[in-house]
Amino acid sequence: MDRLRIDGGVPLTGDITISGAKNAALPLMAAGLVTDGTLTLGNVPHLVDTASMEVLLRNHGMDVIRDGETVSIGGTVTNFDAPYDLVRKMRASILVLGPLLARYGQARVSLPGGCAIGTRPVDLHIRAMQAFGAIVELADGYIQARAPSGLTGGRVVFPMVSVGATENALIAASLAKGESEIVNAAREPEIIDLAECLIAMGAKISGHGTDTIMVEGVDRLGDATHQVIPDRIEAGTFAMAAAITGGELTLHKARPRHLDALFDVLKSAGVSVTDNGDAIQVSGNGQVTSTDITTDPFPGFPTDLQAQFMALMCLAEGSSRISETVFENRFMHVPELVRMGADIQVDGGVAMVRGRPSLTPAPVMATDLRASVSLVLAALATKGTSEVSRIYHLDRGYSDLETKLGSCGARMERVGD
Ligand code: EPZ
Repeated sequence: MDRLRIDGGVPLTGDITISGAKNAALPLMAAGLVTDGTLTLGNVPHLVDTASMEVLLRNHGMDVIRDGETVSIGGTVTNFDAPYDLVRKMRASILVLGPLLARYGQARVSLPGGCAIGTRPVDLHIRAMQAFGAIVELADGYIQARAPSGLTGGRVVFPMVSVGATENALIAASLAKGESEIVNAAREPEIIDLAECLIAMGAKISGHGTDTIMVEGVDRLGDATHQVIPDRIEAGTFAMAAAITGGELTLHKARPRHLDALFDVLKSAGVSVTDNGDAIQVSGNGQVTSTDITTDPFPGFPTDLQAQFMALMCLAEGSSRISETVFENRFMHVPELVRMGADIQVDGGVAMVRGRPSLTPAPVMATDLRASVSLVLAALATKGTSEVSRIYHLDRGYSDLETKLGSCGARMERVGD
């Protein structure tokens, strides 16, 4: 398995172009199942997860053509099974459930199972499909769903905000007969991006970006061309790379409005953030001050930036209280940061971080996507050689990480066992 060898202690300075958003691209690719024409997606990042989604769509019989950053999806589904060996590699595979039901009235999707950050149930996805008239049974580790006379519009009220369940509901409702209402919907930019793409395909959607989305079902969805929004989590990660190394990075294509919660916190921690219109400049000018955060669904502080922020707080002045409210086990990076000399105490969903002047280089192990990049940030800020193992986690969500950071002065080398 590959490791990343990092010689840290160098302030990062330079320009980085932010790639398309993984968490927008995956539902958008799944939406390719509902078009009876061709969906052409631009700015699709080259990631392990987007490649897995391409394999899954081809498994269903779709024609999927990748040409650089463009992915074209068309054809007809011939296989309605999403098998465990594909789904277990990428939980977002559950996003084929709504499209298959909406367009074909049937789907057999393996239960994704949990992952490092939590049990990751899919009960809210199932609730949404049932609200639209689907008959859903769980058997042999699979979700077996059918809607022999198609889906019918309905009202689904989510007891908690779920990005994926909102996306499945949105795609399913687009082809359901009649009106649908999605209450307590997720408000993430990726939801808005998906809705805009579906509207381009012919869907009738309003309220996307708010907590109540209204959909008027249509008979068919056709061709569309859509650009994937930039990845706000990648941009936020690199903003914290500038802060933690005391450097200055200019992030091109990033959308400041997608990162208000992070930038508010960074500014209160003494990091300078400047919106240059088509780019964001982040400078870590010296000492960072500890700041408390609580993760929340958008527009709150993103759970996907919590691990990276914790790495930054390990080197801040003072103590920081980090509360993770979205996932039940998203502190897997803590023991690894402690190996580097960080002072962190965890009590349930709260981590208390006492900042230190410096960390010590060490071999550490990645456990999940965002935990792995938090270890990279800590290593970049630490003089000496650290090694991050199991970086296949990184490759799921960051394209060309070494190239992008390397062009800004990071000394990182990928080494095999
Ligand atoms: C999406 O996951 C993202 N993944 C995650 O990013 C992100 O952390 C998460 O949203 C929250 O923003 C993609 O978009 C591909 P949820 P998702 O459903 O949809 C519980 C990354 O690092 N829940 O909003 O799976 C769930 O257990 C990844 O890029 C249920 O209880 O997240 C969690 O506690 C990690 N039942 C909470 O809701 C359900 O049916 C929020 O999960 C569904 C979810």
